Amino acid sequence: MASPTELPPQRYPSLSRLLHWLTALLVLSTIPAGLIMVQEGISRPLQNSLFLYHKNIGPVILILVALRILVRLVKKAPPMPAHLPRAQAAAAEAVHGLLYLTLIVMAISGIVRVQAGGFPMEFWDPLIGGMVAKNEALANTAKAIHHFSRYVIIALLAAHIGAAAMHGLIKRDGIFSRMWPPV
Ligand code: HEM
Ligand code: HEM
Repeated sequence: MASPTELPPQRYPSLSRLLHWLTALLVLSTIPAGLIMVQEGISRPLQNSLFLYHKNIGPVILILVALRILVRLVKKAPPMPAHLPRAQAAAAEAVHGLLYLTLIVMAISGIVRVQAGGFPMEFWDPLIGGMVAKNEALANTAKAIHHFSRYVIIALLAAHIGAAAMHGLIKRDGIFSRMWPPV
């Protein structure tokens, strides 16, 4: 008879999966946009479009992360499968928590950097424009935090996507299907 440990792992609720893949799509496009738009020597129109995309999408990511945390509080995440070593489960949970935290820090430091620097928030101006007064020192601090966080998010994502690929393509132990399909 099959023991409970051999049953296929449970899935995340469909709303959590949809929010996960939406966030993934936006984060994985906004990071390259951020990295390219600060390069010297790129054309003005390209730089303007990337800034427009980046500044408009950043607050959407913040809203999606807040929604994801709310949904997670109401609909609990499925328990980690019993076959996963405890240290691996703990590492995965730590990376997930740090991903949420880093995204929040990046979105808030981005908003503060733009507003304290006296720049427009683009489509978000009517809603949250003018929340932070112009302040050069604050803008520079937020810029430094935003810049440093990029190393953190890239390292976390490399670990996260690497682990997901290992489970999905090599081990094929059902961990990937906890978050798949998106709908
Ligand atoms: C190709 C890209 C990605 C793949 C293949 C992927 C895959 C997965 C999988 C399989 C899980 C479920 C892990 C489990 O069994 O508990 C998961 C969870 C998670 N992923 Fe991703 N992911 C990707 C991108 C992202 C991105 C870009 C972010 C955010 C920056 C992200 C944040 C999270 C978080 C926070 C969880 C934990 C969900 C929770 O328990 O609340 N992922 N991901
Ligand atoms: C969680 C979402 C976000 C991620 C993952 C992200 C990521 C990045 C990355 C990787 C860079 C390049 C950093 C560098 O090389 O110094 C960057 C730059 C920038 N980001 Fe974000 N960002 C996010 C949210 C935001 C938001 C919400 C805003 C403002 C509305 C914003 C405004 C900026 C600005 C103005 C820069 C240029 C920094 C400078 O040199 O002044 N970002 N971002």
